[in-house]
Amino acid sequence: MRPPRLKTARLLLREFRPEDVAPHAEAALDEEAQRFLGGVKTPYESFAGLATHAGHWALRGYGGWIVERREDGAFLGRVGLFHPEGWPGVEVGWKLARPAWGKGYAPEAAAAAIGWAWTALDLPELISLIVADNANSQRVAQKLGEANTGPVETPFGTADRWLIRRPEGDAPWALRDATLDDAPRLALQLREAMERFRDFSPPGWPVPDHTTDDEVEALKDPNYRCVVAEPGGVLAGHVSWRPAVDALSGPDDPDTAYLGQLYVEPAWWGSPLATKLMDIAIARAGADGFQRMHLVTPAAQGRARRFYERCGWRTVAPPVDDARFGMPTIAYARDLDRVGG
Ligand SMILES: CC(C)(COP(=O)(O)OP(=O)(O)OC[C@H]1O[C@@H](n2cnc3c(N)ncnc32)[C@H](O)[C@@H]1OP(=O)(O)O)[C@@H](O)C(=O)NCCC(=O)NCCS
Repeated sequence: MRPPRLKTARLLLREFRPEDVAPHAEAALDEEAQRFLGGVKTPYESFAGLATHAGHWALRGYGGWIVERREDGAFLGRVGLFHPEGWPGVEVGWKLARPAWGKGYAPEAAAAAIGWAWTALDLPELISLIVADNANSQRVAQKLGEANTGPVETPFGTADRWLIRRPEGDAPWALRDATLDDAPRLALQLREAMERFRDFSPPGWPVPDHTTDDEVEALKDPNYRCVVAEPGGVLAGHVSWRPAVDALSGPDDPDTAYLGQLYVEPAWWGSPLATKLMDIAIARAGADGFQRMHLVTPAAQGRARRFYERCGWRTVAPPVDDARFGMPTIAYARDLDRVGG
């Protein structure tokens, strides 16, 4: 399994790459940074460590990420989940190269990893193993809301076991109405989603543009609804709907709402997020008095179509050649009398 990408305000948590070997080895030679990690490491030992974190995904289905600064692509270090044999629990850990310290990057990256663990993996708790003198790391643990449960024996010696439990119910999903501040990220998420349509689009298909201004305009419309999920500060997905009479396509029926976007980042594919967002749209549109909901999706988008059909949507007509979209699309509809599939 390949590490799924997570994007925070300033950071990208991404997969391991060949070009990470050198900066990882350089950081492992820094005495100060290695003080609480068993001392400096040779390039050979650093490589073995990096390979352990990369391979952890294959063996456990989760693991660590390289932390990259989005602004300039700089390598900052490593963060993520770790549970080798003999470890006293699933750990969330962090290790940044010294120039990256003191900017709150470790808490930002670790919060994203923790949010993903609660929502995509449904883990009930995480630990961090921190040696007693490592004040910087203790601060990170405190900022994340972890509590020190005292010393435990680990394969590398004695360390304090810091603990954090999954918040109850849907809290880790951080579901909320979108605000104007979300416009740049929503526009980007939509463009990236459209980019993925290339997998099944005709050759030379132009990706439709969707700018921040387009998104701002939509969010300012009092009839437009948009709900986002932001576990650990990562925009995991969003759903939006509006009256069908205001939409560019769909029926001209005042009792019908039009589902414009339902999008979930690949890191959450297979999780309950898509169903959660769909259920919110259905329940809220129903509460607003709409009788039916309508949507249009590319006819070749099998995964989305199977999802909609599982959730009780029915096709309303055979696929049509959609000149506006540049590929065949298909329309679905459903009544709003019940929630879920
Ligand atoms: C632990 C570590 C990841 C902290 O990351 P970070 O992104 O600097 O985290 P923060 O910016 O939130 O800083 C945490 C604390 O570190 C201290 N700190 C920050 N910058 C520092 C610097 N340049 N030099 C020394 N200490 C510094 C501060 O006490 C800070 O707490 P504060 O924000 O309340 O002042 C980083 O120090 C590190 O990689 N250390 C070496 C590896 C390690 O020990 N990993 C943890 C193993 S359990």
